[in-house]
Amino acid sequence: MSAKIIDGKEISAKVRGEVKEAVAEMKAKHGYTPGLATVLVGDNTASATYVRAKHKACEEVGVRSIGRVLGEDISQEELQQVVQELNDDPEVDGILVQLPLPKHIDEEAILGTIDLGKDVDGFHPLNIGRLSMKGRKPLFIPCTPYGCMRLLDEAGVDLNGAEAVVVGRSNIVGLPMAFLLNNANATVTIVHSRTKDMDAHLKRADVIIAAVGISEMIKGNQIKPGAVIIDVGINRKDDETRKRGYRLVGDVDYDDCLPVAGAITPVPGGVGPMTIAMLMKNTLHAAERKF
Ligand code: GUN
Repeated sequence: MSAKIIDGKEISAKVRGEVKEAVAEMKAKHGYTPGLATVLVGDNTASATYVRAKHKACEEVGVRSIGRVLGEDISQEELQQVVQELNDDPEVDGILVQLPLPKHIDEEAILGTIDLGKDVDGFHPLNIGRLSMKGRKPLFIPCTPYGCMRLLDEAGVDLNGAEAVVVGRSNIVGLPMAFLLNNANATVTIVHSRTKDMDAHLKRADVIIAAVGISEMIKGNQIKPGAVIIDVGINRKDDETRKRGYRLVGDVDYDDCLPVAGAITPVPGGVGPMTIAMLMKNTLHAAERKF
C-alpha cells in the first residue's frame, strides 16, 4: 500500500481562493482593501525570498502590501519605532516581522511591540499565551502550524484521542503545533534532541509532525503503518543532477515512508505553500475585525 499524498499546493490554492473571494466581498461591501506590512531586517537571502513570496501572494489575493527593508545594523529603538509607526497606520491590518532578526535585537521585545490586533504571525506573547491555555482563544494562530492543521483537516484525519508526536520544539512551529493538537484533543508528545527513546515515541504515533530541520531523518521503519506524516522540514540536499546543485528534502525520508504511512505531505509542495496561504487568511481576519 502506498500512502495518500496530502497535496499542499492544491489545498493552499483553495485557501488563497477563499481569501481572494472574501477580500473582493470586503471591497464591494465596505470599499476597504486589507493591508499587510512586512519588515525585513538585514540581508538573509532565505528571509528575503520568503518576504518576496509573501508580497506576491498578497497581490494574488488582492491584499495591499507594504514592505519595510531595514539595514542589519538598525538599533532596537529604531526597529521598535518602525513597528510602532505600522501599529499607528490605519491602513495596515497585519504586521509581519520576518525572523530571524539580527543577534543584537531583542526578538521578544519586538514581537511584543506589535499591536495584538495586527499580529498576523501569531507570535505576540499574549497570542501564544492564549493558544497555550485551555478555553482561551488567540486572535491569530501562527501560520505554519495553522497550515498543518488545515492539511490534517482536509485529509480527514480524526485527531480526537490520536497519539500525536511533534518532532522539534521551536517557537515558530513545534511549540504552537503541540498546543493546537492538544486543543484538538490529540494526546501530544514533543520529542527533541535530548529525548531518550525517540523511536519508541515515533513508533506509536498516529500523527507525526516533523519540524526539526534535519534532512530525511525519519525513516520508514521508525513509523507505525498507516501513520499520518506532516513534514515541515525544508532542507538542501546535494544533487548534481540539478542545475543549482541541490534539491529540497524534508525531515522525513519521503520515498522510504511512502509505502508505510497512511498519508504524507511531500517536500516541496506540502506544508511550504500553506504558511503563506494562512498568512493571507490571518491578514483578512485582521481586517475583518474592523467591521
Ligand atoms: N521565519 C521562518 N518562518 C517564519 C514565519 O512564519 N514568520 C516569520 N515572521 N518569520 C519566519
